[in-house]
Amino acid sequence: MYLTYSSSSSLTIFLVSLLLVGDHGRARIILPENVTVPAVIAFGDSIVDQGANNNLKTLVKANFAPYGKDFVAGKPTGRFSNNKTPADMIVEQLGIKVLLPAYLDPSLDDKELLTGVSFASGGSGYDPQTPKITAVLSFADQLDQFKEYIEKLKGIVGEERTQYILANSLFLVVAGSDDLANTYFTIGIRRLQYDIPSYTNLMVSSASNFIQDIYKLGARRIGVFNAPPIGCLPSQRTLGGNGLRMCVEEYNKAAQLYNSKLQPEIKHLNGTLAQSRIVNIDIYRPLLAIIENPLQYGLEVVDRGCCGTGNIEVAVLCNQLLPTCLDDSKYLFWDSYHPTEKGYNILISQVVGKYISDFF
Ligand SMILES: *[C@@H]1O[C@H](CO)[C@@H](O)[C@H](O)[C@H]1NC(C)=O
Ligand SMILES: *[C@@H]1O[C@H](CO)[C@@H](O)[C@H](O)[C@H]1NC(C)=O
Repeated sequence: MYLTYSSSSSLTIFLVSLLLVGDHGRARIILPENVTVPAVIAFGDSIVDQGANNNLKTLVKANFAPYGKDFVAGKPTGRFSNNKTPADMIVEQLGIKVLLPAYLDPSLDDKELLTGVSFASGGSGYDPQTPKITAVLSFADQLDQFKEYIEKLKGIVGEERTQYILANSLFLVVAGSDDLANTYFTIGIRRLQYDIPSYTNLMVSSASNFIQDIYKLGARRIGVFNAPPIGCLPSQRTLGGNGLRMCVEEYNKAAQLYNSKLQPEIKHLNGTLAQSRIVNIDIYRPLLAIIENPLQYGLEVVDRGCCGTGNIEVAVLCNQLLPTCLDDSKYLFWDSYHPTEKGYNILISQVVGKYISDFF
């Protein structure tokens, strides 16, 4: 599936040289000689939340059916999809482990800590107001937990090996959608103080500060996702459209503006922070390409989610009382905000193929 798909793109030669189809037909990245990636460590929002919100007093949760419908034993884990998240897919493609656990998972053992965790919390964002609205973990909270995690690593393997793990692991920073879609547009509390140019400046400066914070703590290989076309998320088509449920152009324009400022900032950090590989990972264009041309990717429905009507249900609004679609592998979106595993797989296969070599 993966190789068939990639053969239609201009990346073919590059991908074929990087990938090998593993035992179960899953693409596995072949790293350059002498390069090791001991762990994956994720920060951000629901795209890479692995269950951090399960024990928080928030409505932004996914630890109940039908979330996890296609996960092992149909178990809801707090992941905001029917199955794996991009964080699971990336840690698996790197051959490290099959699932990336939440740092707050009470059952973590030493081996899990050493091979990586996620600090991400659904509903969070770069704007400090964003996690306040949803009562979830801010980037400051995630940074505090990361510091605690580093102390645990030192206790397990010592100072030197801990620095090695931090310097060689792949860090993922994934946020921005909730700042724009929720805080700025839907709830609107920031519209009184900021126009879109100044709000996107605030987001970029907060993202940049966070990247510098984890760099100071030892992170070197850092992948930063930009914002998706938020105007095309099913819930935003419903809330922000004119009743026709078209993509909301104003929202997409804001995401584009943010992305156009994030990219040079990432490049600047990559150039100034010694020994770093800080990579801007574009998800906007690949997601829009899927939305504009679903059949080419084996998908049929891209304007609503699989859960309930698909137009508005997300988190507690997507629950066991609602029916789900018959075949979620035909849907890009699982709920009105988050992709299905199928959608994430298409996206992440492309992203990994395109960017992995930039980290080494
Ligand atoms: C890989 O490491 C080994 C042992 O340190 C060394 O001999 C070899 O030259 C290295 N290869 C590359 C491509 O750096
Ligand atoms: C990041 O900086 C390194 C040099 O430190 C450079 O080789 C690499 O091309 C830069 N990456 C990007 C994406 O600009």
